[in-house]
Amino acid sequence: MPARHTGAGRKALSLSMHRWSTLFIPTLREAPADAEVASHKLLLRAGYIRQLGAGIYSYLFLGNRSMNKIVAIIREEMDRIGQEFLLPALNPREVWEASGRWTVMGDNMFRLKDRKGAELCLAMTHEEVMTDIARKELRSYKQLPQIWYQIQTKFRDEPRPKSGLLRVRQFIMKDAYSFDIDEAGLDASYAKHHNAYVRIFERCGLNFVAVEADSGAMGGSGSQEFMVYTDAGEDLIASSASGYAANLEKATSRLTPVEDLAPTGDGQPELVSTPGMGSIADVTAFFGIHASQDIKCVAFMGTRTAAETDTPLLPIVTFLRGDHQVNETKLMAIAGVSELRPMVAEELELHIGGPAGFLSPIGIPEVMTQGSLNGLKTGKALEQIKGIFREDVPNRVLKTIVAMDGGLEGRKNLVAGANKLDYHLRNVTPGRDFTPTLIADIRNVNEGEGCPIDGSPLRIGKAVEIGHIFKLGYKYSKSMGATVLNREGKEVTLIMGSYGIGVERILTAAIESSAAANEGSSYALHPAIAPFHIVITITNIKDAALVAEGEKIATALEAAGLDVLLDDRDERAGVKFKDADLVGIPYRINIGRGVAEGKVEFVDRLQNQSNDIALNEIAGHVTTRITSALRTSLPAAVK
Ligand SMILES: Nc1ncnc2c1ncn2[C@@H]1O[C@H](COP(=O)(O)OP(=O)(O)O)[C@@H](O)[C@H]1O
Ligand SMILES: [Mg+2]
Repeated sequence: MPARHTGAGRKALSLSMHRWSTLFIPTLREAPADAEVASHKLLLRAGYIRQLGAGIYSYLFLGNRSMNKIVAIIREEMDRIGQEFLLPALNPREVWEASGRWTVMGDNMFRLKDRKGAELCLAMTHEEVMTDIARKELRSYKQLPQIWYQIQTKFRDEPRPKSGLLRVRQFIMKDAYSFDIDEAGLDASYAKHHNAYVRIFERCGLNFVAVEADSGAMGGSGSQEFMVYTDAGEDLIASSASGYAANLEKATSRLTPVEDLAPTGDGQPELVSTPGMGSIADVTAFFGIHASQDIKCVAFMGTRTAAETDTPLLPIVTFLRGDHQVNETKLMAIAGVSELRPMVAEELELHIGGPAGFLSPIGIPEVMTQGSLNGLKTGKALEQIKGIFREDVPNRVLKTIVAMDGGLEGRKNLVAGANKLDYHLRNVTPGRDFTPTLIADIRNVNEGEGCPIDGSPLRIGKAVEIGHIFKLGYKYSKSMGATVLNREGKEVTLIMGSYGIGVERILTAAIESSAAANEGSSYALHPAIAPFHIVITITNIKDAALVAEGEKIATALEAAGLDVLLDDRDERAGVKFKDADLVGIPYRINIGRGVAEGKVEFVDRLQNQSNDIALNEIAGHVTTRITSALRTSLPAAVK
């Protein structure tokens, strides 16, 4: 007898009820072998998602319900500060050419051609289209500020799609853009987004932090990422007890002072034979010094952005303490390049003048001209450089950037390579013996170093980025020509911000956090984003009294406005409990033998508690519990 026909007399309400027996919830006992992180395994096992291709997923009934709930929260909060648009995912090439990003986006952009051969792309983000609307439509300061947002599908051909929904090639993003007349306006729009994001993530029940983030080679004055700490994350965050928190791409540190070596001989750089000692470990052992007393050289070829195609390749030679690592994001921002690759041997020879393992900061040719290439053998890298010295552009020079990390500033008598195979120098003193093009923070901070605020020790943790707010400044409005007339009737360029939230990331971050507390075996979502608030498990559907009680409670809870899933399947109780845990619903009522004594069991999976509650009290109890859980997830200002 199908459960639908039980409970006659309450037909009108019960017809719309979500009965597990009629739904498609394909739970799995085991996760596919290629699923690595907990959220990926659990999303598959819970029947939320199925994979279609690399980084491409279908969202099934439960997954889609959860996503829709997240979207509804985002929409509600964004509607307080902005206006919702819906822009096309299919974009003509021209609008991306206007900003210069048709080239910059490289292989990450999905590109296609229409039947007439015109080029299009699937949008990765929408600065261009929004700025295009602004430049065509906004005329006066009187129309400002504007905040336009959308909740829409984005496409990115990620080099390493992985981890289930954490890094996919098609995903839903809330992206917002602000247009202001001046910096003070931008600051206000940015603050509005910051506050909206705090409300959104709190309502989703996430434990998150806002951290300082890199604002990229593109310029820009402020950027924060909203992060959830989890081992499944791909970002590293440095934080300390002072409240400092920054993405490793941006984090700085105070270094403990290092004792410099005493000078040898006349104190000038002195050549020392170091046969075969090409690594830091060899050199420090040979000289009996600490790696912090050694200068390390790491050399790159940087690629400049399309706007400066004059000399697209830029030699960048970095020097830092032997025990420090280059942070490529920091270096790219400082050098103004969009890509880095290590120099190959012939480039080391050409731009530094020495072999790997023995590279020196002393004697680097500052500029390179056509003449510098004479007599050199040809190789692929050399050909690239030769291409820069084209005959149609005479007198071109190529400047090498010599970047020294701030950690070497003021240091003395260090050991460094000698630009000569099997030789090192000692007594090398930056500033006296060589002058870098720039001195900047280009290193990764290490755990335990002092935080920049008060010197308290830095911790480093893994996290996933759920949202990002960014002061773009004039980048797009300038390149695309978006201006308005100011109060004095003068044409001024708009100042912009852009603000993103990854909808899938909210779901995965919530699952990762909960799974970590359950040893990876299951998760419970906050009721605000769970596909259902509560599941009612009828332990034995052959018992008509249990079915009737289950129906009755489900109907009462639905009438109170809750989302109820009634498990009316003809399965063993154990199977039903396991499935209920698997699908991440935070609350459960077990309708079982206790009914004979007028009781049911209420399970709160978020608090890990269960207790018996009288039949005549259960609906009221659950309604109060869930409505208050939904309310406490609202920040004080919103309640
Ligand atoms: N490949 C992806 N898969 C899922 N979500 C993504 C992906 N890329 C970005 N997001 C989400 O979109 C938000 C805004 O994107 P953005 O900051 O432009 O991304 P990124 O930092 O990767 O360049 C991110 O904070 C993140 O939550
Ligand atoms: Mg980002």
